[in-house]
Amino acid sequence: MWAELLPVGRSSASGGYRRFAWTGADADCRAWFKDQAETRGLTYELDRNGNQWAWLGDPAGQDAVVTGSHLDSVPDGGAFDGPLGVVSSFAALDELRARGVRFTKPVAIVNFGDEEGARFGLACVGSRLAAGQLTVEQAHRLTDADGVTLPQAMERAGYDPATIGPDPERLARIGAFVELHVEQGRALDLSGDRVGIASAIWPHGRWRFDFRGEANHAGTTRLVDRRDPMLSYAETVLAARREAELAGAVATFGKISVEPNGVNAIPSLVRGWLDSRAADQPTLDTVVTGVEKAAREYAEAHGIELDVVRESFTPVVEFEHALRDELARILGKEADLTVPVLGTGAGHDAGILSGTVPTAMLFVRNPTGVSHSPAEHAAEDDCVAGVTALADVLEGLACR
Ligand code: GLV
Ligand code: MN
Ligand code: MN
Repeated sequence: MWAELLPVGRSSASGGYRRFAWTGADADCRAWFKDQAETRGLTYELDRNGNQWAWLGDPAGQDAVVTGSHLDSVPDGGAFDGPLGVVSSFAALDELRARGVRFTKPVAIVNFGDEEGARFGLACVGSRLAAGQLTVEQAHRLTDADGVTLPQAMERAGYDPATIGPDPERLARIGAFVELHVEQGRALDLSGDRVGIASAIWPHGRWRFDFRGEANHAGTTRLVDRRDPMLSYAETVLAARREAELAGAVATFGKISVEPNGVNAIPSLVRGWLDSRAADQPTLDTVVTGVEKAAREYAEAHGIELDVVRESFTPVVEFEHALRDELARILGKEADLTVPVLGTGAGHDAGILSGTVPTAMLFVRNPTGVSHSPAEHAAEDDCVAGVTALADVLEGLACR
């Protein structure tokens, strides 16, 4: 499975993946998923929001046990964030068939569309739509950097955008969703464990800061006559770092667009996107309020107009204790050990679904903690341990 996925959407320049929603690379990932489902004789389904499902047992049955993740990536992402969960799901199913287990519940593998939000700016679009956390009107307004809207992109990829919207009946049939994911930190490396269980996801969001000044000649405009939005933007980046440090949170400006983007022109517009996350909501509010206040002061000092728009927000997710404890019991019994329970600052489809469906996550050790980068890695032994753990969990949940 890895050999087939390896070249899909991979940049030869960076070695990273560019698998953005509804692009050719995404289509190749989707074709791979469908092929994996059909090769195993699973019932393949594409839902109204473009999420893919592979069913063993009756897709219309109740109390289904679902696993899976996503196949899209951030710009120059690693190989594991997303695909490890999907590949491990198919491998776990193969393992359970080899064990000869008898399922008493329907089991499915899912590939949620557009988890990273790299193209349209909003993460977890497929699961948010299904769970009713993104309205059809909001989804219609999502636009990529080239001005292509989400419905246009879906249509160009051969999907009918008219069907998108909440999918409560489908979610109501799910008794448990378990997402396996590469760890995006070093907790397991430090504790010496291959696999962990998620406790919570930090609240997080994305804010767009538009600094508007005046374009002018970089050589002839006196410094005192400039209204340069880059200065306020740069000061705001430093303020974000300072506020995050003070609060014990994280804040990142990782994406920027500049107009007119000429070496010898003072910019007219600097647009920067702030991603901020914290262990709890009051802390996150403090950080973002602090960054915005600083940005307004800097903007005023330089004669710059500033607009701040919150583009997305995901509240804190505390995974259901009953399912989490069940996973710990299943894995502890098999391995005769205590499985570590970890929080994370990364967002996941499991977090979106957790408001609607009993949801849990398994993390697989990442030796460096690096993620959202071509250097992301997980050792083969650890990936195999993840597959075994997922198989044990699916057997425990779907065969009782
Ligand atoms: C998704 O990986 C996110 O946490 O942004
Ligand atoms: Mn990610
Ligand atoms: Mn992911």
